[in-house]
Amino acid sequence: MLRRVPQILDALLDGVVVVDATGRVAHLNAEASRILETSTEAVSGRPIEQVAGASGFGKAVRSVLAGGAACVEHEIRVPRRFQGDLLVDAAVAPLSAEDGTIEGAVVGLSDLTRGAALREFDRERAGVAALGQIASGIAHEVRNPLGGIRGAAEILGKRSANERDRAAADLILREVDRIAALLDDFLVFGRAGEIKLAPVNLHRVLDDVLDLLAVDPLGARAHVERSFDPSIPELMADGDRLVQVFLNLGRNALEAMPDREGKLVITTRLRLDHRIDLGGGERVPTVGVDFDDDGCGIPESARERIATPFFTTKSHGTGLGLSLARHFVVQHGGTLTIESREGRGTRARVSLPLRRAP
Ligand SMILES: Nc1ncnc2c1ncn2[C@@H]1O[C@H](COP(=O)(O)OP(=O)(O)OP(=O)(O)O)[C@@H](O)[C@H]1O
Ligand SMILES: [Mg+2]
Repeated sequence: MLRRVPQILDALLDGVVVVDATGRVAHLNAEASRILETSTEAVSGRPIEQVAGASGFGKAVRSVLAGGAACVEHEIRVPRRFQGDLLVDAAVAPLSAEDGTIEGAVVGLSDLTRGAALREFDRERAGVAALGQIASGIAHEVRNPLGGIRGAAEILGKRSANERDRAAADLILREVDRIAALLDDFLVFGRAGEIKLAPVNLHRVLDDVLDLLAVDPLGARAHVERSFDPSIPELMADGDRLVQVFLNLGRNALEAMPDREGKLVITTRLRLDHRIDLGGGERVPTVGVDFDDDGCGIPESARERIATPFFTTKSHGTGLGLSLARHFVVQHGGTLTIESREGRGTRARVSLPLRRAP
């Protein structure tokens, strides 16, 4: 049973770092590896200060090893290379032999940011479900009369003798079609779980999206850079939906650039440390796709609302782009997050579970 201790530690939601009596790292469980962006293999035998880095809980470990009492450091910041900083509580306790000599110390790391992110994710899912119900309701109530209006306008247009009346009937037709197209988009929220999974080459999907953007006048003057991780294998996903997701993110990035001149960097990364639970306890690694632009950014006051359907700051926007993108990503079991600095730029990050293609 004790042979399984590392496995047992990996099952914990908290990070665990075991240190020997000289302050050298002996073991990291999976969560600690995620938090500290490293692994037991990489840091075994290194002094704790090197692993704790700027977060500084190394000092607490030294004091415990020197005979001090167990202690908790609250809300310490762990700077990270690839993602935003984490806030963690670090609890340090001595490991004592029966005769009282200190053989080492254990650090428990509890990620406060993660709890907040999970709650946010739950809220998002609930929001998407509620939206689905509203969408089906609206579809039912609005679609039928729209059909009637269209038919009547067509008849009036054909029968009318003068040009002005025909133009008015045409206008009705065009506007009705516009509403119908909008409804089609909105209706997507009402259809739960309709994605079709098939083996997808993510980079091919992104290349297609970038080709589409390149021929669009919108993207003509922007500089697009690809930083693709070649180790990403084919994954099971809905390619058509992903095109829609990335097209919306790409368009938003280009539209945020003053005079459409700016830089859009698309980065893909296989993230073994960031796993998503697909249910049934299966935790799979994720693939991260970042759209980084150096456009206008999003003011603090708008940040909460950008993924709400119909929220737009553009004169010709529908405000459905981001909410649709998020809807499709959530249907894949993934997440879409937006980080932004006003005046500096925006990062839209899609994390997709890596379901292996057979
Ligand atoms: N990369 C970005 N940079 C700056 N602002 C953004 C970015 N992405 C989204 N936004 C803000 O979020 C709002 C909502 O985006 P969303 O894609 O949902 O709708 P839209 O782009 O306004 O319209 P649509 O996508 O339907 O044409 C935008 O109006 C804009 O204010
Ligand atoms: Mg948009």
